[in-house]
Amino acid sequence: MTGSGMVRVAVNGYGVIGKRVADAVFRQLDMVLAGVADVGTDWRLRVATTRGFRVFGATAGHADAMASAGLKISGTLDALLDEVDIVVDCTPKRVAARNVDEYRRRGLKFILQGGESHAVAGHSFVAEANYASAVGRDATRVVSCNTTSIVRTLTALKRSGLLRRARGTLLRRATDPWESHLGGIMNTLVPEPEIPSHQGPDAQSVDPELDVVTMAVKVPETLAHLHYWVVEMTRTASKDEVIEAFAASSRILPVRTDAGLSALNAIKEMMADIGRPHDNLYEVALWTDMLKVEGSELFYAYMVDNQAIVIPETIDAIRALCGTEAVAAASIARTDDALGIGAVTARLQPSGR
Ligand SMILES: NC(=O)c1ccc[n+]([C@@H]2O[C@H](COP(=O)([O-])OP(=O)(O)OC[C@H]3O[C@@H](n4cnc5c(N)ncnc54)[C@H](O)[C@@H]3O)[C@@H](O)[C@H]2O)c1
Repeated sequence: MTGSGMVRVAVNGYGVIGKRVADAVFRQLDMVLAGVADVGTDWRLRVATTRGFRVFGATAGHADAMASAGLKISGTLDALLDEVDIVVDCTPKRVAARNVDEYRRRGLKFILQGGESHAVAGHSFVAEANYASAVGRDATRVVSCNTTSIVRTLTALKRSGLLRRARGTLLRRATDPWESHLGGIMNTLVPEPEIPSHQGPDAQSVDPELDVVTMAVKVPETLAHLHYWVVEMTRTASKDEVIEAFAASSRILPVRTDAGLSALNAIKEMMADIGRPHDNLYEVALWTDMLKVEGSELFYAYMVDNQAIVIPETIDAIRALCGTEAVAAASIARTDDALGIGAVTARLQPSGR
């Protein structure tokens, strides 16, 4: 920690998730972004330096290559890790798992992202579900975008006593927008070969009590994922009760098709218009006018901004591991405040439910 009690954070891997985590850390009043590390030499790291972030090479070789490409380099990852209390590893799937031995050898706290398996960190995290169990731990894994959305929404129903079991179909974006010239699918839909798809079991790594089954299909677009859910509730409930249950989470944004928010692109555009960095939709955007209750059966759909949803969770995970905030609600409120979550919700909902 710094003299004033600020947590010093390193971000290893400045890609889709890493750059958003770095931005979010930068916005917290109780954290300092010590620097970001990567292996890249292109425009993405140049942007980091123009933001005033210190950039480090993953190895001496990478630092040399980055410097040769004209980037302002502050040293190697090794040197960055010497300075920090915690590292958020946002390197690609399975690369992070190889870094863990070094973090452990240093006695450094670390956070992994959803591309790694539960076993590598031994704990999987969604703030509203299991913050307390992460407090003071050495490591956790912020679960994937889809899994985060599943745990958030089902935790809201569970907390209100309404959840018996849930079955969901996930329409998954094909690739991330910035690299969609390199790959992705076009003019087809690709079902995941197994039912259940991995997200349901992954949600149980956060909350083993969840009775949840998922099926998934990859779709030819890049904006976000779209989920359709059928939930068997514990009892007959009204639509208003269900909406109240979801409203208890600041990270579930109620949206309405009849307000013009009838598609993923419209919601993304709204995030741009309200000035969110990277057009980030940190919340699950859940259509309340579409939501349907029939007796004890509940049907709803929501949008998941895969690039953004895990960012507030990562910030909360930093506070939990470092023990700077023991109470989940307090950390969530601080993160929400710094990222503008919740502030816009009321203003964006002119009409009723
Ligand atoms: N992209 C998403 O929508 C998304 C959503 C949720 C979780 N995740 C998870 O987040 C993690 C990161 O994914 P991403 O999409 O940001 O990947 P990405 O490819 O966009 O970014 C990874 C970054 O790490 C850098 N890198 C590669 N090897 C490195 C090394 N050895 N040392 C340091 N940096 C290195 C790359 O240059 C790149 O900048 C993965 O676990 C992924 O599963 C991704």
